[in-house]
Amino acid sequence: MVIVSPGLQARLSQPLVIGSVTLHSRVLQSPLSGVTDRAFRQLVRRYAPTSMLYTEMVQATGVCHAQQLEKIMDIGTGEQPISIQLFDCRPDFMAAAARKAVAEGAKTIDINMGCPVNKITKKGGGSSLLCQPEVAEAIVRAVAEAVPVPVTVKTRIGWDDDHINAVEFARRMEAAGAQMLTLHGRTRSQGYQGPARWEWIGRVKAALSIPVIANGDIVSVESAVRCLEETGADGVMCSRGTLGYPFLVGEIDSFLKTGAVPSPPTPGDRLRCARDHLGLLWQYKGTRGIHQARKHMAWYVKGFEGAATLRQQLCQIDTVEAGYDLLDGAIAGLAGIES
Ligand SMILES: Cc1cc2nc3c(=O)[nH]c(=O)nc-3n(C[C@H](O)[C@H](O)[C@H](O)COP(=O)(O)O)c2cc1C
Repeated sequence: MVIVSPGLQARLSQPLVIGSVTLHSRVLQSPLSGVTDRAFRQLVRRYAPTSMLYTEMVQATGVCHAQQLEKIMDIGTGEQPISIQLFDCRPDFMAAAARKAVAEGAKTIDINMGCPVNKITKKGGGSSLLCQPEVAEAIVRAVAEAVPVPVTVKTRIGWDDDHINAVEFARRMEAAGAQMLTLHGRTRSQGYQGPARWEWIGRVKAALSIPVIANGDIVSVESAVRCLEETGADGVMCSRGTLGYPFLVGEIDSFLKTGAVPSPPTPGDRLRCARDHLGLLWQYKGTRGIHQARKHMAWYVKGFEGAATLRQQLCQIDTVEAGYDLLDGAIAGLAGIES
């Protein structure tokens, strides 16, 4: 049983206001490189009709030179509200890319200041901006001046345990013009290891006037409510908990709105969702999509007898038909058990 305090209840009854944008959900689907493409977002949207969804991060330079424009343009009808996430360390490139992103339909522009990957931090982007707050400020200012939509920042609590600067950094982003800040409660050196340190999210929330979104280890209704209670954050953003589980954002959103914990999908429901995911990847990306589908299929297929074998088989598919055959066989097998 998940209990919501009266204080949280009151907060939840209000919409989430990000500058000029009003959201009717306090649960957000995070940007996930290699995951949150149009196919995945379409499934998340099915269960979470009003939540903010994010594109995969897109390099501003790529947008300026049109190499990654395809990814950004990949926004379908019915996807709103959607935010486009950009990364780079050059304010002028970021501003130009943001203008293009707005033209493609972005409701907000999110700036990645949390990515830990060496390739990106070495070039001054992602989480390395935590070590260069003046550059981060210049980016936020340049983008905020360039576009009419709210500019938001997603970052971490610091570079490493000796350099945790989340509160000071977040204050500077707010002063530079950020209209919302999402905080992943880990340092850059933690990567994705160890528990997210929500206490820092609480400290940042207490220091800012703009909405603060909590990120890290939001994997269930229970963890979402606990995080909102402990941190006072204005919303939660789901990440790895959604891999092979595009139901999560909708489940939490539904609980926060109705107080009822939704019954979890059965293994059969998950396989039907995997089948839809495969079909969408095929539709949007062709054979490249089938190869990308392999990892998704492995995330979906668990919790029933024969799951390990099916996972192995799905990891080798080359055609949509091969995937459908495997999934349909398993769905038929589960139908007898689940009915
Ligand atoms: C596969 C993968 C891809 C990610 N891609 C992005 C990205 O493009 N932009 C971003 O801001 N964060 C990205 N992240 C970080 C997540 O959005 C999130 O901050 C992090 O996983 C912490 O949340 P969790 O503990 O619930 O997974 C990525 C994480 C993973 C595992």
